[in-house]
Amino acid sequence: MCGIVGYTGNKRASGILLGGLKQLEYRGYDSAGIAVMDQNKITVVKASGRLENLCRRTNDGDSVPGGAGIGHTRWATHGAPTEENAHPHLSNDGRFAIVHNGIIENYLSLREELIAEGYHFESETDTEVIVHLIDMYYDGDMRSALAKAASRLEGSYALGVICTEEPDKIYAAKEASPLIVGAGIGENFFASDVTALVSHTRNVIYLEDGEFAELSPDSIRITDCFGKVIDKKVSRISWDVQAAEKGGYEHFMLKEIMEQPAAVSAAISPRIKDGRIVFDELSITAEELKHIHKIVITACGSAYYAGCAGKYAIEQLCRIPVTMELASELRYSDPLIDDHTLLIVISQSGETADTIAALKECKARGARTLAVVNVVGSAIANLADDCVYTWAGPEIAVATTKGYTTQVSVLYMLGVYFGELLGKVGDQYDYLVDELLLLPRRVQETIDMNPGIEALAEKYHNSKALFFIGRNTDYATALEGALKMKEISYLHAEAYAAGELKHGTIALIEEHQPVIALCCNPLIMEKTLSNIVEVKARGAEVLALTFRSNDKIVSSADDLLFIPKTTALFSAVTEVVPLQLLAYYVAKANGCDIDKPKNLAKSVTVE
Ligand code: F6R
Repeated sequence: MCGIVGYTGNKRASGILLGGLKQLEYRGYDSAGIAVMDQNKITVVKASGRLENLCRRTNDGDSVPGGAGIGHTRWATHGAPTEENAHPHLSNDGRFAIVHNGIIENYLSLREELIAEGYHFESETDTEVIVHLIDMYYDGDMRSALAKAASRLEGSYALGVICTEEPDKIYAAKEASPLIVGAGIGENFFASDVTALVSHTRNVIYLEDGEFAELSPDSIRITDCFGKVIDKKVSRISWDVQAAEKGGYEHFMLKEIMEQPAAVSAAISPRIKDGRIVFDELSITAEELKHIHKIVITACGSAYYAGCAGKYAIEQLCRIPVTMELASELRYSDPLIDDHTLLIVISQSGETADTIAALKECKARGARTLAVVNVVGSAIANLADDCVYTWAGPEIAVATTKGYTTQVSVLYMLGVYFGELLGKVGDQYDYLVDELLLLPRRVQETIDMNPGIEALAEKYHNSKALFFIGRNTDYATALEGALKMKEISYLHAEAYAAGELKHGTIALIEEHQPVIALCCNPLIMEKTLSNIVEVKARGAEVLALTFRSNDKIVSSADDLLFIPKTTALFSAVTEVVPLQLLAYYVAKANGCDIDKPKNLAKSVTVE
């Protein structure tokens, strides 16, 4: 969702801001703008639509001089994606400009209060109240005005502010929305995430909630709301700028699909030492685990489906009941959660508003919390008692791929690790560890053994709807396969538990209806085969995903996708890959904007 950048230094700020916004495009947006300060005057330029419009309007930044400024990509929430509603917003006298990511929940009452004080509003946004609050509280001390304004806000925010009275300074504040400071030499930055900073500096400071940053070209000052200086650690980003570029691929999504063997290896291999799974980062002990009566996994979207895949392995290996809860539902369900519950939250971005809220809710009820997160230093990583990073590297395409497979890989490992701590795994342990270590290679084999997916996409891309069916672990993967298809190709795609077909859904099967049947779990293969026969008898075209050696399925299906033979407990990591590629090529055949699908955002920081 919204992206923020800020720059102060000796270079032309506008070019750096536009470059940073380009890197944040993947978060999703529908308008953009910059505000740059030059000799005590702020120039604001905004444009609705794509960033190219803003670049054109500013002559790629050349027509906006000045060395300090802020920029923003807006994903509309309050008010349409028009130029008036685009950020930055100016105070009435033009002294302050502000950019904001998040939602101000009490903006209506603040707006009324400010109108009564004589302020007039130019936009419909919740954000505009903040710039007028700052103006109202300013008495020569910008940091203090920002802190006073922030203390009036309910909701979430990452803020960037400039003020004409302090021409080389940029200010930032954060509460429940991501913001990172980049430390350069003779220049400093802030941004919503590191992708916008990494081409300038790899030295970053992760701001925490309630912290304020005051940056000049030569100094970084982080304070609390009382102005007390906080000594912050500077972290070094380990990946380089190429990791956030397309590297010769047509789309980030395809690049990220192809990166999966390496990403899954990064998630698994360093955590296996001398044949044993080692989670150095976990503090939960065997004794504490024995007090856990149930495990609840919560997340949104694909991260939720990763949980669905991991649930089978964790439940099987630990023999503890595992329930799946959508984060957006869990938070309002008065959940039966106490200190005998282990809550596992999963999030690629670590910033998903619903997941954060569910985590806070369950923590308050006494649950032990463990986060599985990709983005280092993100809110969820900081909030949970324990955090296991997935180490997938930057994921730029809105539709997650390597984010999902690394989440599932980590959940598999946790299943084996906890199961062993609980004494439930027994002599299967070595076999399971070997299977985990083989997963990266099997992902590569899966990519290699399905060269015909683009041609299959040609056959299916005009379909009205696609049904994905499977049972047990196959059903979990079907859910993710269907989501991938709908979000990037805009085709109606649904996943059904194959056994449920005859309870209603089979009424939808007619001549030539494509059905994608997942048959990678030997325990229930015969049952899925019966479902294939049932839909074929009603005219369906069946595309089956299975092992090459699975003669019965191979001879029943119209088209085939393959994975190498693997234990069903860990099959989602390979099984999802042909489905990702199918979604990708169907979307391509339909001419869709694959990396930035309509209406979607990468980090969903609002409810
Ligand atoms: C789908 C997708 C979304 C995310 C969901 C949660 O491809 O990317 O469904 O999985 O918005 O996001 P995170 O994992 O960042 O919490």
